[in-house]
Amino acid sequence: MSTAQQLPDILSPEFAANPYPVYRMMRDSAPLIRHEATQSWIVSRYEDVERVFKDRGGQFTTENYDWQIEPVHGRTILQLSGREHAVRRALVAPAFRGADLQDRFLPVIERNSRELIDVFRHTGRADLVADYATRFPVNVIADMLGLDKADHDRFHGWYTSVIAFLGNLSGDAGVAEAGARTRVEFAEYMFPIIQERRENPGEDLLSTLCAAEVDGVRMSDEDIKAFCSLLLAAGGETTDKAIASIFANLLAHPGQLAAVRADRSLIPRAFAETLRYTPPVHMIMRQTATEVTLSGGTIPSGATVTCLIGAANRDESRYRDPDRFDILRDDLTTTTAFSAAADHLAFALGRHFCVGALLAKAEVETGVGQLLDALPDLRPDDGFDVVERGVFTRGPQSLPVRFTPTA
Ligand code: HEM
Repeated sequence: MSTAQQLPDILSPEFAANPYPVYRMMRDSAPLIRHEATQSWIVSRYEDVERVFKDRGGQFTTENYDWQIEPVHGRTILQLSGREHAVRRALVAPAFRGADLQDRFLPVIERNSRELIDVFRHTGRADLVADYATRFPVNVIADMLGLDKADHDRFHGWYTSVIAFLGNLSGDAGVAEAGARTRVEFAEYMFPIIQERRENPGEDLLSTLCAAEVDGVRMSDEDIKAFCSLLLAAGGETTDKAIASIFANLLAHPGQLAAVRADRSLIPRAFAETLRYTPPVHMIMRQTATEVTLSGGTIPSGATVTCLIGAANRDESRYRDPDRFDILRDDLTTTTAFSAAADHLAFALGRHFCVGALLAKAEVETGVGQLLDALPDLRPDDGFDVVERGVFTRGPQSLPVRFTPTA
């Protein structure tokens, strides 16, 4: 094991400004770091992160979410395992794939994207983060659940506070208090709606959850509220960052942007490469159930492992020239990129593989397609440089663009 004393700390401003050179140093010379401040063991190589996520030998648990997320969401499927996990996951999984996604929710996705673009298409300028990316995915999930999109600002505030709690690596007291407040506010908001939906079920996903039975038992109001909280946070923040990042990457590579504009079937490739190159979630944790030996050394039983997705996705032993954004690279498989057979690690792998991956793909395909149609000659605003924010989740802070206005 390396002590990594010469490396910038993951909590330092230098790391936050640009983690990628540090990731490289970690993979090369400190692939297993005992990190005192987060009381965890940091792994950065592709082979190690993949092994932790796939967990073939049953050596890792998600008990870390008991302290990392339960205080704000309540108990969710992220913490469950075995049959309990499979049954609950199966309650929402059908809505996020196949016929339900195509027939029931694709129209919702298309309408929500169009509504946002219509606000700025005739103005000639927009911030693709503030005006679009932070609004679109959370509006979609709110609509899918049958919640009132007019409450967007509250949803956005809540999911930002939940994700901040999850990524509160330095234990900031203000972030912890805001998370606790969010739990109370979200419960006060949701319980009357759950009650109403139990009495008057509709076609929405919330009604499906209210009617669902797990092993013959209805889910409690608390279970349903926790599920909704997870869906808003997991489906909002991540896809928000993904959409902002795909545009940041394409705008920085005008030749690739032109290729995608000319051939929209390249959008999934551009999305898969964005997930590899600039993943929305940079870190995921696990707990060891036993002593485990990885490429850099041995981790004791009962320890927390911090898996650096952002580092593993740029491992030169897995991807050629990994610091180059290239939507045509032949060592990233697009056909499996949105399934548990993916080779990039942005959605994790194994039993907790992102249940919303195909929903995210549908949102990105629709969003990028509609934006390219509505915004001809899309270009970064004069003198603008992308600044990325976040070490747990990460994405462009803003993305001011100009274009010829359309009616
Ligand atoms: C680009 C967008 C997205 C990214 C990068 C992403 C990333 C992830 C990751 C890394 C995990 C694994 C967490 C772990 O193993 O500890 C996960 C799980 C999950 N995601 Fe996503 N996600 C995205 C979009 C979505 C969407 C749109 C939804 C649904 C609204 C969603 C819902 C979930 C849920 C419910 C889980 C937990 C699955 C389980 O425990 O079985 N995600 N996601």
